[in-house]
Amino acid sequence: MNHSIQIALSLLILATLCRAQQVAIIGGGISGSFTARYLAEYDKECKIKNITIFEAGIVDRPISSAESIDAEFQGSRVSCLQLKDGRTIELGASIGYKGFHLVLEMIHGDEEIEIGEPFTTGKADESLPDGLGIYNGQGLWSLITSSVPKVLRKFQIAGRYGMDLIRVSRASQAAQEKFAQLPALLKSNHPDTFYQSPEEIWQALGLEKVALASFDQLLDALGVGKDVSWLRSYLPYQGVLRSELLEAMNLVNYNQGNDQVNGLVGLASFAVTAGGVFSIQGGNYKILQSAIRKAKEDRLRHCGVNHRFNVVNARVTTVVKETESFLLFAGEEMLGRFDDIVLATPLQLSKINFLVQSDMDSAVLRPMPLAGLVKVNDTPPEEGHMVLPGALPEQATRRYTPVVTTVVSNATLNAQYLALDPASLPRSIMTTKQGKLSLHNITAITLIASDGIYKLFSAERLESSVLETLFGPHYVLEFEKVWGGPHGGATPDYQGRGFSSNFLLYDSAVAYDEASGPGAIYYPSIMEQMSLACMEISAIGARAVAKLLARRLGLIAPMVEEIRDEL
Ligand SMILES: Cc1cc2nc3c(=O)[nH]c(=O)nc-3n(C[C@H](O)[C@H](O)[C@H](O)COP(=O)(O)OP(=O)(O)OC[C@H]3O[C@@H](n4cnc5c(N)ncnc54)[C@H](O)[C@@H]3O)c2cc1C
Ligand SMILES: *[C@@H]1O[C@H](CO)[C@@H](O)[C@H](O)[C@H]1NC(C)=O
Ligand SMILES: *[C@@H]1O[C@H](CO)[C@@H](O)[C@H](O)[C@H]1NC(C)=O
Ligand SMILES: *[C@@H]1O[C@H](CO)[C@@H](O)[C@H](O)[C@H]1NC(C)=O
Repeated sequence: MNHSIQIALSLLILATLCRAQQVAIIGGGISGSFTARYLAEYDKECKIKNITIFEAGIVDRPISSAESIDAEFQGSRVSCLQLKDGRTIELGASIGYKGFHLVLEMIHGDEEIEIGEPFTTGKADESLPDGLGIYNGQGLWSLITSSVPKVLRKFQIAGRYGMDLIRVSRASQAAQEKFAQLPALLKSNHPDTFYQSPEEIWQALGLEKVALASFDQLLDALGVGKDVSWLRSYLPYQGVLRSELLEAMNLVNYNQGNDQVNGLVGLASFAVTAGGVFSIQGGNYKILQSAIRKAKEDRLRHCGVNHRFNVVNARVTTVVKETESFLLFAGEEMLGRFDDIVLATPLQLSKINFLVQSDMDSAVLRPMPLAGLVKVNDTPPEEGHMVLPGALPEQATRRYTPVVTTVVSNATLNAQYLALDPASLPRSIMTTKQGKLSLHNITAITLIASDGIYKLFSAERLESSVLETLFGPHYVLEFEKVWGGPHGGATPDYQGRGFSSNFLLYDSAVAYDEASGPGAIYYPSIMEQMSLACMEISAIGARAVAKLLARRLGLIAPMVEEIRDEL
């Protein structure tokens, strides 16, 4: 049995080793930079001829207020703004969490990285207040912790939400413990750990039910109340965890409520409220830089001076599959010829045409059938080509939810307008469903620096009249980032559940054998579409994909641990 597996594996490896392969990674965000590092790490004998990252945007430095960037194009979701005085403010991902095992491992020991606090500017600011407020609209607040002395806040929240808080805490704790097993599984070469899809990953961890259900369904299952219970209604100051803290957290992070996000998203949002958060001083983009540096070091070590690793600043617009390889284009310009591709950006936001040469006539291009099997007698569409081929599940082509990040300086929060006590303003304001609707669809207002720098998240662009009402006549608009431009958005639109699809997006060699030979496109972003969108999930997608590709390229082979022990 073991023998036959090994023989089959050797044949597979032989078949793939016939030609050194070139790998293109499209996107240099967390997914792309981490994939590059993991591949470089796997490729100990420098068998990959070339690893090239194509990145269209700015990933190696902060952007400035004055800079003109293509508003139509999303760019990296880990990007930060640098003010004239040098202070930096995250526009996208700002919060790292202690459960971000792969991210923490990547930056570990990197001398250029210094851990700081989220929602700060990287410069010391002693007079920053703290506290959190959850706004319910019409001058009503569900919770304001800044009005209570710090030491009492724990009790304030515990008292308000009672047992429900404990129920959700326990569920979140249990999920985090399961989640913590993933790095070891991804590192293993055991045959069961070459996960083909996010669903297989969640299954391996025993979290697939949480991933596939909505957060509301999960809360129902946990017995978390929708109202203040009859008994608790006799106590003062009782609230509904579900519609206050949990809803507000999901609106901030995903601009989606409990009924729209899946269970994993909800538990993750909740976990972060309990602390253990971090951010990188001077900008989280340094995490990407850390991965790139490590990839380079690995390539130098394994390949020597001609390390055959490149980061190219280009926007891929077209991918054409020929018989032998993929051609990548930026407009008219050909970027190169590659054997395998990692698409490290959501398809919806990449704006790439994926085409394949017709078998009958190589001058005829038709849309590449993405996801699932390549059907031998696929009939070309009547005319032209679809931007997104139809084979992917509907969820994987859905538009992302719109989110706008707005940064203002020289601002004074209008306490009266928000019915707040000016003496104890909360540093961060989140909104419930009603709060969001009554406040111009704003989901968060956070004081980033005590001299009046605020960051806002909203579902749409904020009119200057709105900003003036909120921040007074002297505010300065530093930056506005409309994620994904008019086509939306920042995070997948979960519509209440996850779905299943494979990391392998296209495989021209699938007819011969599963995962062999050149001609594959892998897609780490399917991870965030089926699960949740955060830096760690992108890192997990990268790791899972790098491992599948490493097997395909013959850099590693599945191996039952016992066999290794015998040798
Ligand atoms: C407003 C906001 C707040 C967030 N807050 C948090 C948070 O607090 N904590 C957290 O963990 N996560 C947060 N996230 C989510 C997190 O940012 C993402 O999950 C993560 O950064 C995704 O990384 P990625 O590499 O998979 O994708 P992306 O960051 O989208 O990277 C894709 C890259 O590909 C490039 N690209 C796209 N198309 C092409 C092309 N055709 N050619 C060449 N290059 C291309 C883009 O420029 C980009 O750099 C937030 C996201 C947003 C938008
Ligand atoms: C690797 O690919 C890049 C981008 O196409 C190219 O510039 C470089 O010359 C290639 N190097 C090798 C050794 O193939
Ligand atoms: C908020 O969003 C809702 C739903 O998208 C929209 O109907 C409404 O006009 C928005 N409200 C404001 C104040 O912008
Ligand atoms: C900042 O606000 C003050 C009033 O609070 C105003 O006098 C000043 O001109 C403003 N600065 C800028 C750059 O707008």
